[in-house]
Amino acid sequence: MLEVRDVVVKFGGFRAVDGVSLAVAAGSIVGIAGTNGAGKTTLFGVMAGQIAAASGSVVFEGRDMTRLPPFRRARAGLARTFQVPREFGRLSVLDNLRAAAPNDAHETLLGAWLGRAGAAKADARLADQADEILALVGLQAVRDLPGAALSGGQKKLLELGRALMGTPRCILLDEPFAGVNPVLIGQLLEVLRAIHARGIALVVIEHHLQALKALASRLVVMDQGRVIADGAPDAVLTDERVQAAYMGGVV
Ligand SMILES: Nc1ncnc2c1ncn2[C@@H]1O[C@H](COP(=O)(O)OP(=O)(O)OP(=O)(O)O)[C@@H](O)[C@H]1O
Ligand SMILES: [Mg+2]
Repeated sequence: MLEVRDVVVKFGGFRAVDGVSLAVAAGSIVGIAGTNGAGKTTLFGVMAGQIAAASGSVVFEGRDMTRLPPFRRARAGLARTFQVPREFGRLSVLDNLRAAAPNDAHETLLGAWLGRAGAAKADARLADQADEILALVGLQAVRDLPGAALSGGQKKLLELGRALMGTPRCILLDEPFAGVNPVLIGQLLEVLRAIHARGIALVVIEHHLQALKALASRLVVMDQGRVIADGAPDAVLTDERVQAAYMGGVV
């Protein structure tokens, strides 16, 4: 479904991603681990379109996305979340979700074509979708609070909800568990499983390999811009190069 081929990203003379190839099957869950600075977030940037690769390509559902801007990739069904949540602090949680919808009928040609009544209907549909997603990620209780009032964990859930507004078929999640308290982690795992059960593929960056193992059937480990292991969790966890990269620590 999603394939990156031979991706290289350079910052000055430094290769943050150094020839990575990776394929994600439709409906699968792939975990991406690796120590700080391994190039995980940069790779997501290339997949989702925020970062231009020096070389290599990104293909999603058979379409070459390499030169498409992020919003075009999102519309095509490829969404991402950010390591540091990007909510609108002054907008309500509900409006944060509505603002993340790729097609607001009031602002598009579609809206002009539908007329005011049609746009109102599209608006109502958007509100329904936002409410459904609020329920899915468990944020109904804070629906009308401003984004800035949420806890770190709730902001992570909102970030996920915003990605879902585009009805994606694949979501790239950058450290969705980081900074989330243990109770919410359990909730978040359930939410991710529910999303996966709807047939949506997930690619999840997470340092903690054991946490990833609870979710993903395949793990990819990066180190210094390269993939050093890719396969079944147990094989990856016992891989010598992985052990060495983690220095027997965080695994
Ligand atoms: N815009 C940038 N300009 C220069 N260097 C960058 C830039 N973005 C990232 N880097 C460098 O590229 C390397 C990879 O960074 P990246 O954020 O992809 O790592 P990561 O695997 O996501 O790390 P972490 O687990 O800490 O989030 C790091 O050495 C980082 O300092
Ligand atoms: Mg990162």
